[in-house]
Amino acid sequence: MKIIKGINDKNKNDIVKWTNEKGRNFLEQWAGENTDFPLTVSQIDNMSNVYSIFCENEFIGIIQKIRKELDNIHIGRFLINPELTGRGLGKRALLEFINLIFQEKDVNSITLNVFDYNVGAKKLYEKVGFRVIDVTKNPMKKYMMIMKKGEK
Ligand SMILES: CC(C)(COP(=O)(O)OP(=O)(O)OC[C@H]1O[C@@H](n2cnc3c(N)ncnc32)[C@H](O)[C@@H]1OP(=O)(O)O)[C@@H](O)C(=O)NCCC(=O)NCCS
Repeated sequence: MKIIKGINDKNKNDIVKWTNEKGRNFLEQWAGENTDFPLTVSQIDNMSNVYSIFCENEFIGIIQKIRKELDNIHIGRFLINPELTGRGLGKRALLEFINLIFQEKDVNSITLNVFDYNVGAKKLYEKVGFRVIDVTKNPMKKYMMIMKKGEK
């Protein structure tokens, strides 16, 4: 498993294809409410700090450092090729990404948001050590979760 900053054009097209084949709700599930369906390459270009996930040199997904707030990094836009989910790859990738982020000395926590209906993703986040710190309901129920350095 390798996580590398950036994403090439071919892999952007993979993300577009995987997403648009599954439809509007799927786009919102992983990219949030502020992305327009259908997904386009230019919308991916506008996402800063996107990381590509590779398994045995095959591009399998993305994850993003959305923003840094003091000593916290907010992550998201986590997507694994829908044909390869449920095999432990997402968990491995997330653990690797957490490791990478916590190597930064001035970072002490990581946060993310997950929709209430995305039961599988939330379970995964709990398994690797995130816990809920906030619940919001506008327009859809979602959780903010946090993991602190050295907590797990
Ligand atoms: C969320 C996602 C990235 C996880 O990747 P994945 O490769 O499917 O996850 P894994 O196979 O590594 O599963 C990790 C753990 O989560 C649990 N899990 C995953 N999906 C689950 C589901 N639908 N229901 C219950 N548990 C689930 C598994 O039990 C697994 O735990 P285990 O390793 O102890 O058995 C992937 O499913 C995906 O791309 N989903 C669509 C986009 C999305 O919703 N992204 C998250 C936005 S917040």
